[in-house]
Amino acid sequence: MDSESRQIPAHIAVILDGNGRWAKRKGVPRAMGHKAGCETLEKMVEEAARMGLSYFTVYGFSTENWKRSEEEVGALMNLFRYYMVRIIKIANDNNVRVLMIGDKSRFAPDIIEGIDRMVESTRQNTGMTFVVAVNYGGRDEIVRAAKKLVRDCAEGRMDPSRIDEGIFSSYLDTAGIPDPDLMIRTGGELRLSNYLLWQMAYTEFYVTDCLWPDFNRQELEKAIEAYNLRERRFGGRK
Ligand code: IPE
Ligand code: IPE
Ligand code: MG
Repeated sequence: MDSESRQIPAHIAVILDGNGRWAKRKGVPRAMGHKAGCETLEKMVEEAARMGLSYFTVYGFSTENWKRSEEEVGALMNLFRYYMVRIIKIANDNNVRVLMIGDKSRFAPDIIEGIDRMVESTRQNTGMTFVVAVNYGGRDEIVRAAKKLVRDCAEGRMDPSRIDEGIFSSYLDTAGIPDPDLMIRTGGELRLSNYLLWQMAYTEFYVTDCLWPDFNRQELEKAIEAYNLRERRFGGRK
């Protein structure tokens, strides 16, 4: 397909998976796989912005990932601390605005501050929006939204008869963000792992065996190419 007729999806959501397997293959500790994964993420934020995506959402840590060993969770937290600071520079160099989805209240206070700083210091950027999903779970997000909506109804800020899909969406962490057009999962697993359950009602899925640390611009191009070859017939249309 020539690049002129190719459509770049406005919003790509990624499940970055396979860091552990990448490390195992290399015979190095899992934490090294996560570090390599963070390096790939830095590069991909830049690539996605250059390609002209409007939104790039990445699943970095799920509500289920706390169940991993203390050692692994600790290593991931330290990587967040280090890479959040680097992301600010990459975002500002590329006019990228950073948003966070998920329940940040479970993180250590310095990580919460780091997230707030990342969002605050990139707020004015007008290019791509990079959405980081950390301590994110689709079910958790829906439950938190429902609780907030119930509170607003009970306290008279919302009339229950007004509730529709649009109103409900506005209570989700992704309020104001369009639904993903394309979801890419690396590492080959054919499941959603609690990612963007509400938002991906009509998203096209692309799964690659490529492990996240090996992901690059060419792999992203391949996914976009596959997306372009799909016939998007949805919403009851034939
Ligand atoms: C994805 O890589 C990163 C996180 C979930 C934090 P994994 O750590 O899940 O890697 P695999 O699936 O074990 O290879
Ligand atoms: C999905 O990867 C979640 C993230 C990338 C944060 P996991 O490795 O945690 O998912 P499962 O356990 O294979 O479903
Ligand atoms: Mg995994």
